Amino acid sequence: MCGIVGFIGKKEASPILIEGLSKLEYRGYDSAGIATMDNGNISVAKCKGRLANLENKLKEEPVKGNIGIGHTRWATHGEPSDINSHPHTNEVGTISVVHNGIIENYIQLREKLISKGYKFCSETDTEVIPHLIDYYFKGDLVEAVIKAVSRMEGSYAIGVISAKEPDKLIAVRKDSPLIVGVGDGEYFIASDVPAVLNHTRDVYYLNDNEFVVLKHDGVTILNEENEKIEKELSHVTWNADAAEKGGYEDFMLKEIHEQPKAIRDTMTSRIALGKEITLDKITLTKEQIEKIDKIYIVACGTAYHSGVVGKYVIEKLAKVSVELDIASEFRYREPLINENTLMIVVSQSGETADTMAALRLAKSQNARVIAVTNVVGSSVAREADDVFYTWAGPEIAVASTKAYITMLIAMYTIALFLAEKKGTLSKEEIENIKKDMLELPDKTEAVIKDKEEIQKYASRTYMHKDIFFLGRGLDYAVALEGSLKLKEISYIHSEAYAAGELKHGTIALIEKGTVVIALATQNNLFDKMLSNIKEVKTRGANVLAFALEGDKKIEGTVDKTFYLPNINPLLAPVLSVIPLQLFAYYVAVQKGCDVDKPRNLAKSVTVE
Ligand code: F6R
Repeated sequence: MCGIVGFIGKKEASPILIEGLSKLEYRGYDSAGIATMDNGNISVAKCKGRLANLENKLKEEPVKGNIGIGHTRWATHGEPSDINSHPHTNEVGTISVVHNGIIENYIQLREKLISKGYKFCSETDTEVIPHLIDYYFKGDLVEAVIKAVSRMEGSYAIGVISAKEPDKLIAVRKDSPLIVGVGDGEYFIASDVPAVLNHTRDVYYLNDNEFVVLKHDGVTILNEENEKIEKELSHVTWNADAAEKGGYEDFMLKEIHEQPKAIRDTMTSRIALGKEITLDKITLTKEQIEKIDKIYIVACGTAYHSGVVGKYVIEKLAKVSVELDIASEFRYREPLINENTLMIVVSQSGETADTMAALRLAKSQNARVIAVTNVVGSSVAREADDVFYTWAGPEIAVASTKAYITMLIAMYTIALFLAEKKGTLSKEEIENIKKDMLELPDKTEAVIKDKEEIQKYASRTYMHKDIFFLGRGLDYAVALEGSLKLKEISYIHSEAYAAGELKHGTIALIEKGTVVIALATQNNLFDKMLSNIKEVKTRGANVLAFALEGDKKIEGTVDKTFYLPNINPLLAPVLSVIPLQLFAYYVAVQKGCDVDKPRNLAKSVTVE
């Protein structure tokens, strides 16, 4: 839930570390810090608050050196404060560490170290690491780090520098992401690729329990036995600009506008008329697919909402029963899994702790696992049997938009793939759905063009305290996502309801002037939805409806209708979610909220 960076080279480390951290603030932003080393002396600068605070501090008290580590934090152990900020050091300040993750046995380690005379000053779990390295240092820093790490339980990506061996930076990961950037005579570590892209496109994706030693003359990768291992260097092809705001006021707005491209990219090479669906990283055969008797879709938050759509479409198209689970529930509920179970885990970041645990549980019971993720080389991608990469590009805003929409594309594509292999749809039916899918980029573009209408509506409703989202079938799935978007960035209380369920209790909350956003894109449920809208209208609700072009019947019943381009209702979620994202965005902007970095949230939830 934090971001770490590290640098060794000929240049001053401090500005490079700060720039890298600015690309990682989406991972946490309650405090930041760096440590640099000059002539064998470590200087640490750290403080509570956004990176800008640290930059101001550095203007007053610069730190020097061409080797260093940095950290941007999202607090888990110990409140956000100067003292709890990373880097943490040993007592005499000769070992400095940044850490992303959680050391689960830190209390035992801390007690042991205290009994040996070590003194602690922060409330963090991380502080045990520099002390532990100090404790194990017997003249060889790499050995001390390996030994210290072998005592640590939990998740970590750590970067270490030490005055004891001032020519190196050591890093290691387990269950937290870490990459190594290889430049021209300069080397980097980072929690994510954008942090190094201004300097290099050549990176190593580290696996769990791999150690890396960066020196002025190169990079060595080691296993836990301190033996050298060879790894393939990957070349990043996407542009550094892709991770910048590109003229938009916020990343979220930029990412909403990138959705047509993200959809197109995600379908490219997979969906083509007249050709079988190609999923190069999914190697399930027809025989294996025929044996599948149950699919679990497991995810958290927005990713889970894409799974709600996945359940509908996979059951409808591929005729196999799908159970949908929240990962944090699934992992503790003893689900029935066997070798005929297929699990689809969905995770934009590919690092969500609960989703990873669910994946591991399913694998331990012989299920086949497909990971749907936006991050190449992420933990879910590496541990699953098969991977569906969504090609949304880096998503920086904490509230997911373009990653979500590409998860929907993944759900449709996997459903069609299974239907094709199982023969549950005719060739013609599959071709028709593919044709409709290929129209989605242009149609999403058209929806985004109408954003001013949504902006106007948001400016009239932003002061409301409760907003309800209603829908049936696939519209219900979208209602869930619309409601979450509004809550997370505008802090307005909101609920999403399956429209037919409202009268079983929640309708008691509807009163004169309550804002209700009703989705009515499903033609088989249209009349039922209309009745539900009438139920809330009768109780005084102010209703904004979303319908497909041509469904004029709704107009007399609601206060305002927003029409979406006509589309196969099965694919309507891809279009209808966009005005809801825009609504949440404009409401949050009107309220003066920090859209990209909502309070209490982090982009990647790598702890339980
Ligand atoms: C909300 C949002 C979160 C994530 C959830 C899972 O906009 O982004 O609800 O969807 O934390 O994250 P991933 O997809 O990375 O597993």
